[in-house]
Amino acid sequence: MSDVILQSIVKRYEHMLAVDHVSLNIAEGELVALLGPSGCGKTTTLRMVGGFVPVSEGRIIVGGRDVTGLPPHKRNMGFGFQNYALFPHMSVAQNVAFGLEMRKVTKADIARKVQLALERVRLAHLAERLPKQLSGGQQQRVALARALVIEPDVLLLDEPLSNLDAQLRQEMKLEIRQIQQSLGITTIFVTHDQDEALSVADRVVVMRAGRIEQEGTPDQVFATPRSHFVAEFMGVTNLLPGRREADGFRLASGEMVGVAPGSVAPGTAEPGELALAVRPERIDLRGPDGEGMAAQIDLATYRGLVIDYRVKAASGLTLIARCPAPAVGGPPPLRAGEAVRLSWRPEAAVLVPL
Ligand SMILES: Nc1ncnc2c1ncn2[C@@H]1O[C@H](COP(=O)(O)OP(=O)(O)OP(=O)(O)O)[C@@H](O)[C@H]1O
Ligand SMILES: [Mg+2]
Repeated sequence: MSDVILQSIVKRYEHMLAVDHVSLNIAEGELVALLGPSGCGKTTTLRMVGGFVPVSEGRIIVGGRDVTGLPPHKRNMGFGFQNYALFPHMSVAQNVAFGLEMRKVTKADIARKVQLALERVRLAHLAERLPKQLSGGQQQRVALARALVIEPDVLLLDEPLSNLDAQLRQEMKLEIRQIQQSLGITTIFVTHDQDEALSVADRVVVMRAGRIEQEGTPDQVFATPRSHFVAEFMGVTNLLPGRREADGFRLASGEMVGVAPGSVAPGTAEPGELALAVRPERIDLRGPDGEGMAAQIDLATYRGLVIDYRVKAASGLTLIARCPAPAVGGPPPLRAGEAVRLSWRPEAAVLVPL
């Protein structure tokens, strides 16, 4: 097991910076999720760590050893990819053994290690099957066993769950996390799915256009996004532009709302163009005679456990409010056209640069 240090790594293609000075310290045994939209440089970063893509600038240090110039097979890392990349004509056991045969391990050792890796992913009973005789989730587990069998210092996973259906993705996500923790293996997990990143990672690194936009524990990134981009990516659908004033925050639509002292992202304390970010779950809807901003239900979307209401104030301000549905003890649904009052607690909102 090893820690991984990325020192200002850069990948340049022609005139384009795919990865733009990324620095990151990953502790031994830590699982870091690289999260971001398509094209932001996640895969390129991972491939540079693995040695499949040469870095243009910067250094990669693994367990105190500079591996920047080493080929993949000298880095002792395990890989898992989106499309499994299993050999179709080889059995499960042969697929898993492949990485060991490349390393000149004795036959007896190979058999023992393959057995152990397959037990770890609960597939020992299917060792003689061919990949095409397995389900998607089973194939993904073979790929994981193959990555683990070489006893890597670092595990690199690139969207390992994206070919699985929602149910299997959920199961495999837990399984990967459980195996990763029991082995204490340093892991980089690439995904564009915020939910996946938040649930598997010790630390989430949000990337945008080749750079790190924000990093922190899942809770830090989720609860206190530091930019409009991260807030939006984390599902904060209400991002209301406005400006800071002495006694609160003036929305562009005219309303003055309170903000809590700690709600300003670092580096953005000066007055200027900001957006107030408030999660739909934090918006309270009350009857028309209660406290708060007068508004009207514009659209109601039933989603099983919750109902999303688009609400419009007279000023034109439009927000999404997410309320518990009757199925989980919520109040009877509101209908389009109903008059309501909406409010949120000042500490429910954070201010981010626009
Ligand atoms: N071999 C290459 N030649 C030129 N440009 C490349 C090459 N590989 C990647 N890029 C570009 O680098 C950028 C980052 O690509 P990368 O594959 O790392 O993104 P990603 O975050 O993994 O996206 P996705 O979520 O779609 O997999 C993209 O703009 C991509 O087009
Ligand atoms: Mg990718």
